[in-house]
Amino acid sequence: MCGIIGVAGASEHGAAPPLLDGLEYLTYRGYDSCGIATLANGRVERRRAAGRVANLQAVLKDAPMAGDTGIAHTRWATHGVPNETNAHPHGNAEVAIVHNGIVENFSSLRAELTDAGHEFETDTDSEAIAHLIVFHLRRGLTPEAAADAAFARLRGAFAVAAIVARAPGRIFVVRHGCPLTIGIGEHQTWVGSDALALAPFTDRIIHLDEGDRATVTAAGASVRAVDGQPVERPTVTSSIVPTAFGKGGYRHYMQKEIHEQPIVIGDALRALLDTRAMRAEAPDLPFRFADIDRLILVGCGTSFYAAGVARHWFEELAQLPVDVDISSEFQDRAPLFGPAGRSAAILISQSGETADTLAALRQLRAQRVPTVALVNMTSSTMANEADAVVAIHAGSEISVASTKAFTAQLATLACLALAAGRARGKLDSEHEARLAAELTAVPAKMADILAAQNRLQDVASDLIRAPSVLYLGRGPAASVAREGALKMKEISYIHAEAYPMGELKHGPLALIDEHVPTVGIVPSDPLFTKNASNLAEVNARNGPIILVSDDNGISELGETARHTIKVPHSDPFVAPLLYAVPLQLLAYHAAVLKGTDVDNPRNLAKTVTVS
Ligand code: AGP
Repeated sequence: MCGIIGVAGASEHGAAPPLLDGLEYLTYRGYDSCGIATLANGRVERRRAAGRVANLQAVLKDAPMAGDTGIAHTRWATHGVPNETNAHPHGNAEVAIVHNGIVENFSSLRAELTDAGHEFETDTDSEAIAHLIVFHLRRGLTPEAAADAAFARLRGAFAVAAIVARAPGRIFVVRHGCPLTIGIGEHQTWVGSDALALAPFTDRIIHLDEGDRATVTAAGASVRAVDGQPVERPTVTSSIVPTAFGKGGYRHYMQKEIHEQPIVIGDALRALLDTRAMRAEAPDLPFRFADIDRLILVGCGTSFYAAGVARHWFEELAQLPVDVDISSEFQDRAPLFGPAGRSAAILISQSGETADTLAALRQLRAQRVPTVALVNMTSSTMANEADAVVAIHAGSEISVASTKAFTAQLATLACLALAAGRARGKLDSEHEARLAAELTAVPAKMADILAAQNRLQDVASDLIRAPSVLYLGRGPAASVAREGALKMKEISYIHAEAYPMGELKHGPLALIDEHVPTVGIVPSDPLFTKNASNLAEVNARNGPIILVSDDNGISELGETARHTIKVPHSDPFVAPLLYAVPLQLLAYHAAVLKGTDVDNPRNLAKTVTVS
């Protein structure tokens, strides 16, 4: 998604250097062009570049920028191709704006402004915002009033920051459907897409509410509600640690974050497991597991696959019926929630800003269904709007491909399932203690997998020429297979598809020949025998098999596999957390061998804040 960073009052070396640093920190959001605008000598200066921030740095090296106040932007193209002309900031010597989101009525605004004599230079929806501000300035409005009047005409989901030549030292912002955060510095004030973008500059954060406008100066921010009335929004301390921005000696953020998992899972478990009593401590929730007949789990992408795994845990350990939905599908359904108070929902999102999951949250709240945001970013919109927040404690996840957040989501959901089982009288204390002990053994077993990960480079090198890769799993492993396929396709660009093992004969078997590898995720669990017979069908058609299993599974099936990837033996309950790791590594090594941009894969963004 697009990223916004701005500063008012960066007097020491001017606004441009910290804004360039800020753009570097924003790259985790995914982008294809970038730019900066500053206020200097009574006018707006702009520099823009297609491609990477390094290209913009080269432009500024040749043409430095003055001014202690400015805005900057990384663009993820929605309207208009990714090139310098369409890069933000948009505007002229009078006004510049940066925008995240979509202006849905930009065509009618563009027509109206063109009729009023404005000339557009880009194909973007965003440019209309700059022209609107100029239009109101020429009507004689003050810069703040002109910005507010322009913001009021916009429809859709957007966050905007604007500077006006006639308003030195000031930035005008609005938040409407896309997150925007203000950061209070020592002698300057920042604006950013989210607290993570501001983490390197300040931990003192003001979260704007939906519809809020603000005028930002070096001294702070004056906030106005959507009706224009001044409001006070609290300054809070962000829990985000800026060290997330170092790769810690790893080649990519994804590699670092994969290797952080043993620590991260330990943190996630410590938050919810009493390791003395070996029992799960449910956090404060807006419902009692004993009182509900249905649990709704909603998420996108990797978060949706975490929901798919957790369904098995809640159903088996707590005998609690679970509905699992992709957020974008959920809002287009007419879901039934049963009698009031008998349903509850957990919205799963690493960022807490995914537009479709946020829309599902709002839909559930409108139906008075108790909502829990199970998030990594606890200063996110979902965390602010849900009835309760359960943090996954994964630390800042920078790489677009989610890895440690996935396993931290699973660890957190596993603890909630144990608590649900006990609360509903379906899980006795001995069984709970045994499963809790299995969870506490996960970090060490993950470390063992990571220690042996070099072998995966050989397996990956065998995959990268494949036209497609099939991932198969059964039960919870079916969702782990989907997550493994997503990792492979989103960072290596190799087509990969996941199917429940039992579906093989219903179509996918036609894909199998000697060129299409099959990754079989086959823990030694009660489903092993069925899985073995499915893989025998692949083998009978010369399909190369990559067997992901433990010692027992490999001893039984290893001879039929081209490659075997060993996972430490564990109780089936925790297998999804362990089996995810080799699949992450397989995708990572395939991407490195293919030379793709591992942390910022093409066309993708870390947080999808538009529907
Ligand atoms: C995961 O690797 C992808 N980047 C993507 O599917 C992601 O999981 C999805 O966009 C949901 O993001 P969220 O967890 O922040 O809501």
